[in-house]
Amino acid sequence: MKVLLTGAHGQLGHDYQILFKKLNIEYLATDYEDLDITDIEKIKKFFKINGKYDIVINCAAYNDVDKAEIESDMCNNLNFKAPVNLAKICKELGSIFVTYSTDFVFDGSKKSPYIEEDSPNPLSVYGQSKYMGEADVLKTYEKSYVIRTSWVFGIANNNFNKQVINWSKTKNELNIVDDQKSVPTYSKDLAEFSWKLIKTNKFGLYHLTNSGECSKYEQAKYVLEKIGWNGRLGTAKTKDFNLAAKRAEYTKLSSEKIEELLGEKIPNWKDAVDRFLVEMKNKGEI
Ligand SMILES: NC(=O)c1ccc[n+]([C@@H]2O[C@H](COP(=O)([O-])OP(=O)(O)OC[C@H]3O[C@@H](n4cnc5c(N)ncnc54)[C@H](OP(=O)(O)O)[C@@H]3O)[C@@H](O)[C@H]2O)c1
Repeated sequence: MKVLLTGAHGQLGHDYQILFKKLNIEYLATDYEDLDITDIEKIKKFFKINGKYDIVINCAAYNDVDKAEIESDMCNNLNFKAPVNLAKICKELGSIFVTYSTDFVFDGSKKSPYIEEDSPNPLSVYGQSKYMGEADVLKTYEKSYVIRTSWVFGIANNNFNKQVINWSKTKNELNIVDDQKSVPTYSKDLAEFSWKLIKTNKFGLYHLTNSGECSKYEQAKYVLEKIGWNGRLGTAKTKDFNLAAKRAEYTKLSSEKIEELLGEKIPNWKDAVDRFLVEMKNKGEI
């Protein structure tokens, strides 16, 4: 079996690589420099030279939610048009296609965990780009997986946990928003459970996050307690920060569909943060 990874230097791409090494899966890891997925000519040439992969996993994305409000073309090219182009090529070649979406496709008005059948209503350019991408991919190719996840953290790139750890090194007081709730998701667990899902051949749309839920404030509090920070942690509101993109208050995704399919529970986000902190320590980053 041959797997192609795009965006492989990011959080999820990195953890797929670790997983595939462990499982002895043959893979090719590409990122922006070797395979810019927004460049359709480059992509066509790439597949002409390299031939068919059994599975193409797209980990590349435009994830800067606020910048996307002014860079909407770049965001749409990467999150909407590129996955659709990859799905078309996979259809031609008969490869399974996997791509990722986000809890930002929802507006937060539901107040209970979102399931796959709930209607999206994105509040931002980023959310809209992801929604258009997932909808068109699913329409384009029946052997596609679209996996929605939330608040991803891992060793390979920047994320909220790392930001909190960095702030803790220079600040004695932090105020973190308590009016955005969802679920932090460890990219290691995301890769592992995605891979289990991919092997089922039950294509379609899935929600996949660590279990539990929390606000950004609760997430930061957990991390700061674990690393023994002695400063003062207070709460803030999203409106205090004058962000370019609108945020939903509650976007927890329910992973029940995938848990039922796999017959397995996904670990709680606190357990995931504990393992992430060990990984950070082992890498000398804390
Ligand atoms: N991060 C989150 O909190 C979050 C939340 C919900 C959903 N998701 C989704 O989960 C998936 C994985 O996210 P992640 O956190 O692992 O993302 P990430 O760490 O930002 O990684 C994305 C990777 O894609 C690369 N890339 C950028 N433009 C590219 C291009 N044109 N062609 C090829 N590669 C390109 C990036 O390179 P550079 O770093 O050089 O730009 C980066 O290595 C994405 O679909 C994301 O939207 C993420």
